[in-house]
Amino acid sequence: MHVIVTGGSSGIGLAIAKLYAARGDRVSLLARHPGRLEEARAEIASLQGVDDALIRICSVDVASAAETARTVELCEASFGPCDILIASAGIVEPQAFDAMPVSVFDEQIAINFLGTANAVRAVYKGMKRRRSGRIMMISSGAALIGIFGYTAYCASKSALAGFAEALSTEAAATGVYVSICFPPDTLTPQYRREISLRPREAEMLMGAVKPWSAEAVAARIVRGLDRGQAKIHFGLSLTALAYFGPLIKPLLKWWLSRKTRKIFGQDAYPGLADTAEQGFDRDK
Ligand SMILES: NC(=O)c1ccc[n+]([C@@H]2O[C@H](COP(=O)([O-])OP(=O)(O)OC[C@H]3O[C@@H](n4cnc5c(N)ncnc54)[C@H](OP(=O)(O)O)[C@@H]3O)[C@@H](O)[C@H]2O)c1
Repeated sequence: MHVIVTGGSSGIGLAIAKLYAARGDRVSLLARHPGRLEEARAEIASLQGVDDALIRICSVDVASAAETARTVELCEASFGPCDILIASAGIVEPQAFDAMPVSVFDEQIAINFLGTANAVRAVYKGMKRRRSGRIMMISSGAALIGIFGYTAYCASKSALAGFAEALSTEAAATGVYVSICFPPDTLTPQYRREISLRPREAEMLMGAVKPWSAEAVAARIVRGLDRGQAKIHFGLSLTALAYFGPLIKPLLKWWLSRKTRKIFGQDAYPGLADTAEQGFDRDK
């Protein structure tokens, strides 16, 4: 099988690539920085039983539709048609909306949402023609609830949920399976950087939950793909949020406003507390 992994040079994408390479599949890693791609290739090739010749690396910015289409074409020319696409390329820049430069907002949408659509577009027609293929979009738990400081990120990741759902209706009966997953905090280079920028309002909502390992998230994603799961959730609270969000979110906001006041005093984050109270009252 030929597996194409965008964002395959790091974190969750790299952990998924390792699992497929260990099975003997042909793996193409796509990301921007050639140095990190080389390191990733060496890391995968050092795994027991992995054939170096079955790993291909390509430098590409998935935000460019044309560049992504060209790159996927080259990968398919060397390793054959894409059987599985893992769209993992993504970035996060937490910052309050009114402080966030337009370019920073737009880049998150361009890479996380449009970049995923670009990668899907590059493989989808071929998969449809062959009546075979699997697509996995890596969204985030942040698609399930709005988080302070994550306007662009939440928007980009919840847009993926709509995209995956709509595309899966188009793909029904074509032999192409479209899946999406909503990972929790996961210990990767992106997380380490993000945690240093995460606003404390967001920290309060998310708490000090221990992040998952990239290997555990990757194993769950690959298992889900093997079983043909359309949606993959992680852990009890994110799964509950996915299925019972409209019931849970008002209570969560109310609890958050109480916690905010308890920790920071009555006047702390008045906007956050007011919104929570209003939301709770209205939803009652
Ligand atoms: N870590 C978490 O807590 C967490 C939680 C939920 C969801 N996720 C999602 O999981 C995915 C992987 O995240 P991660 O934590 O594994 O991050 P990571 O370790 O930073 O890896 C991100 C990968 O995406 C690539 N990438 C970024 N922008 C790109 C672009 N424009 N074109 C091509 N490749 C690009 C990066 O390589 P280059 O920079 O060299 O391009 C890198 O290979 C992301 O979509 C992220 O939003 C992460």
